[in-house]
Amino acid sequence: MTPKTTVDKILSNQPRQPASAHAVGSAFAPSNIALCKYWGKRNDQLNLPVTNSLSISLGNLGATTRIWEVEGTEDRVSVNGQVLSIEVEFHKRLSAFLNLFRPQSHTRYCIETTVNIPIAAGLASSACGFAALVRALQDLYQWNLSNSDLSVLARLGSGSACRSLWEGFVEWERGEQEDGFDSKGVVLDTLWPELRMGLLMVDEKQKTISSRMAMKQTVETSLFYCQWPSQVNRDLLNIKKAIQSKDFPLLGETAESNAEAMHALMMTAQPSIQYTTPETLKFKTQIWDYRKDNRASVYFTQDAGPNLKLLFLSQDESFLQEQFPNLQVIVPFQKISSQLGSKS
Ligand code: DP6
Repeated sequence: MTPKTTVDKILSNQPRQPASAHAVGSAFAPSNIALCKYWGKRNDQLNLPVTNSLSISLGNLGATTRIWEVEGTEDRVSVNGQVLSIEVEFHKRLSAFLNLFRPQSHTRYCIETTVNIPIAAGLASSACGFAALVRALQDLYQWNLSNSDLSVLARLGSGSACRSLWEGFVEWERGEQEDGFDSKGVVLDTLWPELRMGLLMVDEKQKTISSRMAMKQTVETSLFYCQWPSQVNRDLLNIKKAIQSKDFPLLGETAESNAEAMHALMMTAQPSIQYTTPETLKFKTQIWDYRKDNRASVYFTQDAGPNLKLLFLSQDESFLQEQFPNLQVIVPFQKISSQLGSKS
């Protein structure tokens, strides 16, 4: 099974042409932050993971994408109003992904994306980018695919994108099949309105090594990688238990230790990979001190970058905002709670 055969199978009963020559597809998808990380693939082509992972979506923070067909020799991609050169890695990745969907080989696309989170700073912008793109394609071609099918399509662009089709807690089930049709996101139905996530920016610069490369290097060279699946199995059980019983310390401790284990693994890759800077470590120490002194129940998680995402409850929000004036506080369940509120 290749990405192209996967797409053709999912789209077998769906329109492959836009309803009119001037049709424009447009959609939003939230960013997501993993509490139990995806780190390692069993199939690089289909982005099939070694383990399950579990994330929380960031409500209104994410990507909004518009897409339409154009004449020309190249796709035109702009991100936050800036046109990307075709030499840029992200442009190449997007065009390769769009090759899976072009009605004719000469069809080209114009894609305009607005992302309201810092790009490529370890804040999962590729996740919301590919999820918004498949939703925008669904809008352009008027498919009627379920989120579950869209999740499989988004996964082909970037693994973590398959969790960005839902709000709230989402588990990516690794699946067992070789073709990957059972490797997709599944939403958990628990709401946790008091939960907060804080973005603590240490550095807005692009990462030195992409998560894709870092993941591959870890799997291929770390002698400790064989330990990772058992760590994930244990962490997932604890995270799901914590969500079920609203046990915040258990959630925070497990998410923090899972992220630290992922970074420890990267350090044992050859060559070693290090996203943590002295500034990151300074913030981590501050967070450990707040916990030790019982000043706040706050934990962190860290992805493929130096920035931290803090996890805490609403009761500690003002204290943390005072300590970290640049903290961007996100209320992951605000959007869903207000949608449910307006329906009832
Ligand atoms: C550290 O989804 O960006 O954010 O599948 O190669 O596109 P590709 O990787 P990507 O990796 C995300 C890694 C992570 C952990 C996570 O989101 O689970």
